[in-house]
Amino acid sequence: MAQKTTRTPMVAGNWKMNLDHVEAIHLIQALALRLRSTESSQIDVVVHPPFTDLRSVEGIIGADSLPIRLGAQHCSDLESGAFTGEVSVGMLSRLSVELVLVGHSERRQFFGMTDELVASTASAVLGGGLTAIICVGESAEQRADGETTTVLTHQVEMALAGVASGAEDRVLFAYEPIWAIGTGVAATEVDAQMACAHIRSVIAHERTEAIASTMRILYGGSAKPDNAGDLVGQPDVDGLLVGGASLDAESFAAMIEAVSACYGSPAGK
Ligand code: 13P
Repeated sequence: MAQKTTRTPMVAGNWKMNLDHVEAIHLIQALALRLRSTESSQIDVVVHPPFTDLRSVEGIIGADSLPIRLGAQHCSDLESGAFTGEVSVGMLSRLSVELVLVGHSERRQFFGMTDELVASTASAVLGGGLTAIICVGESAEQRADGETTTVLTHQVEMALAGVASGAEDRVLFAYEPIWAIGTGVAATEVDAQMACAHIRSVIAHERTEAIASTMRILYGGSAKPDNAGDLVGQPDVDGLLVGGASLDAESFAAMIEAVSACYGSPAGK
């Protein structure tokens, strides 16, 4: 299996349904100022604002050539047409969006996103030339019943059905245990490592060892500046998908610094 250092770490902020476009501009400007003093060049820093903020955030990133990549939180698996309320991959691509979260647990739980729709959405994202961050993770009940690995195996296998052979280098997985999201109770680094290693083993089984060893796997769920280093210090945890703590420039930048410190400067553990 390839060394962790061959995988570029990522810190991605999922803003969820927070911040209008004016607030988004303020946050990006504050983050840009804060990142100037941070050795973050070896890390992929991504923000996933709400759809209505994308144009404004794109403008600032472009105008100031900021080392921040633009992501979306969701998209349709369809190209265009009479699908009220939906947004296509093509529309995101025109706004310089490079990455899309696919199958976040909140989409699965509250908007009925099935494993099949996760796969077809991943397929649409990849078909449009973008990168998919596919989210997987077990509920508290499933965890209590000892079903974590079974759930992860199923979700990863189902999602990979939407990943064409050859497109794997534009796929990341994010392990986000539902019980850790927004609760203040993150997975321990040991649990995060076990889950991410399991996800990697499923990818190896479904595809190849080489593909699994180069694919990045993030952890998400109450990640904060004080646990970021311990989580990303694990061999199979290649970065963080951050919710609440990404809404504050100071805490998000502190997490980028903690991840950067894990890899040394320049990157290389
Ligand atoms: P929190 O960091 O707020 O727990 O959210 C995690 C998450 O869902 C990121 O996608």
